[in-house]
Formats: sequence, structure tokens, C-alpha cells
Amino acid sequence: MRTVTVGVLGCGTVGQDVLHLLRRRKDIFDNLGVRVEVAGVLVRDTAKARSVPGGTPLTTDPTFLQECGVVIEALGGIDSPLALLRPYLRSDRPVITANKALLAERWDELREYALDGRLYYEASVMAGTPVIGPMSTVLRASTFVRLQAVLNGTCNYILTQMEGGKTYAQALEEAQALGYAEDPPTLDVGGFDTAHKLTVLARFCADGNFPYEAVQIEGIEGVTLDDVAEARAAGQRIKLVAELARDGDGWHARVSPQRLPETHPLCTAGASRNALVYEGEESGTLIFAGGGAGGMVTASAMVGDLLDWLIGFPGHVPLH
Ligand code: NDP
Ligand code: HSE
Repeated sequence: MRTVTVGVLGCGTVGQDVLHLLRRRKDIFDNLGVRVEVAGVLVRDTAKARSVPGGTPLTTDPTFLQECGVVIEALGGIDSPLALLRPYLRSDRPVITANKALLAERWDELREYALDGRLYYEASVMAGTPVIGPMSTVLRASTFVRLQAVLNGTCNYILTQMEGGKTYAQALEEAQALGYAEDPPTLDVGGFDTAHKLTVLARFCADGNFPYEAVQIEGIEGVTLDDVAEARAAGQRIKLVAELARDGDGWHARVSPQRLPETHPLCTAGASRNALVYEGEESGTLIFAGGGAGGMVTASAMVGDLLDWLIGFPGHVPLH
């Protein structure tokens, strides 16, 4: 049995469930002949009440990173995680992250590690619903035409609850309590989180260096209960939609609230599910749908990434 030393950054909605899942799926690691040892779990406040397996080494001191063979990042934010990961990445060790803001906005620093196959980030888009995996592997052979997607669980939740008559403010509060929302939630409702995710996806099908700044962004803050009711009366639903398509020699990338017919695949996927419709010339049309936010669904992708690394699969390599 070989021991693999894991460092976990963050122990909130996602980090806690990563720790639970590492315990719950011990059998899978046993089968690989691996004993997972969590060397440290970085938090801001070790006294805070949280649900973690007994013996979890919570700490505010990141020096444990030096002894880790792999790091799982679930902190959020941009500057703090980057400062912690930078020396670690430079020493050629792998990182698993769910942090789409970091990936989208600091690609200048991260791309070389992604190209080397040392960055694993399935959880960063649609959480536990695998879409980066297929787009970074088999779908590369197909000529990309366009994609349309619902990528934010918080907005989806709010818009669905508004269909039932709840106010925007009430629904946002509930999404925060469920652990779906970013800190701050403006990232969700302003469309920025969806734009971060669209940027990450664009690097597998449009341009390996696709800039976040190229996405036109409009959020759902202006959507009223009347707008939602009017759409419902017309047999439509309002969704925050991410779109990417060729536009002359460049790309059209946009995030905006749209009225879609109830029969549209982004609606039939289920009221609270993320969904993505991918069109490739050779692959045809593919539909991915599933949970896009929440602790355990995200943890399932991160622990899946850990297993990929242990088995010897590279991380998610963008277009060259
Ligand atoms: P939370 O806010 O629930 O947890 C963040 C954790 O990071 C907390 O434990 C916090 O410590 C710790 N932390 C934050 N900043 C620092 C710092 N500077 N130093 C030390 N510890 C710090 O966030 P989530 O778990 O919801 O999200 C984590 C990441 O996963 C984000 O990048 C998010 O975008 C991404 N993600 C989240 C999903 C979700 O459904 N929640 C789904 C997919 C991705 P403390 O507890 O002490 O405050
Ligand atoms: N805040 C994000 C969402 C978490 O609501 O979709 C998952 O990335």
C-alpha cells in the first residue's frame, strides 16, 4: 500500500464533502493500493462549527502544503488561492480545483500547468456533471459549431422559485442557505460565475487562450416576478443562458437571461439542473445535464479527479 499525502484548501460547502467522500470511498483507494492521508485542511477559523470526519487536521497554517503530493483547492476567491498554489505548482505537483473564477481570470499564470496536464478542474463547470472531461478528450476531434448552456445553480434556483411566486430576495437567501451561492452572490446573479464557466469551456472548443473579457455579461437582477409570470403564460421559462458560437473570424460569447420554450433541452433537463447543448459538425448534438451546485455533487468530481491522477490520467488540457 502506498501513502498519498493530500492537502485540502478550504472546508466550507465543498471542502467538507470532499473530506467525507474520501472516507466514504476508501474501498476505491484500497483497490488501487493507495492510502490517502490528509496532511492539512486550511481554513480561516479553526473554531467554527463544521461537519468533518473525526481527526480532520484543520489549520490556519498552510506550511503543510510543502509535504503534500497533491492539493485539492476549494477556497474560492482569486488572489489567496493563487498565492498558495503558485509555489506548489512551480514544484511540478498536481492541483485539483473547483475554482472557475481563478481559472477564468488568471489563465496567464495557469495555462502552462494545464497544458502540462497538472491541473484537474472537472468540478469548475457544472460541478459533478462531467462536461470538461468529454470536451478535453473525445470531443476535440469534432469541429465545434456552437454551445448553449445553463451553468449557474443559484440563478436556476432563483428563477425556478420565482415561477412559484417567491420573491427574488427570498429565493436568493434560500440558494445561499443551500450552499449554492458564491461569496459574494453578485458573482452568481450578475452573470459573472456563468461567464467564468463559459470561458473555461471555450478553451476546449474555441481558443485555448480564450479571454474572460471577451464574454458579454448580463445577469438576472433585472428579472421581475411579472417577467417570469409572463413567460410562463406564454409556455416559456426564463433561464440565464451562456452561448458560444463562431462569429466571422472570432467568437460570439454571451451570458444573458433569455425566454426559452418549455420544450427546449435547457428547460426539459429539469427545473433545478444545469444543462449544456453542444453542437459539433461530426459529433452532432449532445446534451449534458445534471446537478451543477452543492457540496457532494462537486466533491464527486474533485475526488474523481484525484482518482484520475492516481490512475495516471493527465489533467484537463486546453486547446494548444
Ligand atoms: P465556502 O465559502 O463554503 O468555503 C470556503 C472555505 O475556504 C471555508 O472553509 C473558508 O474558511 C476557507 N477560506 C476561504 N478563504 C480562505 C483563506 N484566505 N485562508 C484560509 N481559508 C480560507 O465555499 P464553497 O465550498 O461553496 O466553494 C469553494 C470553491 O468551490 C469556490 O471556488 C466555488 O466557486 C467552488 N464551487 C462551489 C460549488 C458549490 O456548490 N458551493 C460548486 C462548484 C464549485 P472558514 O470556513 O474558516 O471561513
Ligand atoms: N455558485 C455556483 C452556482 C456554484 O450557483 O452554480 C457552482 O459552481
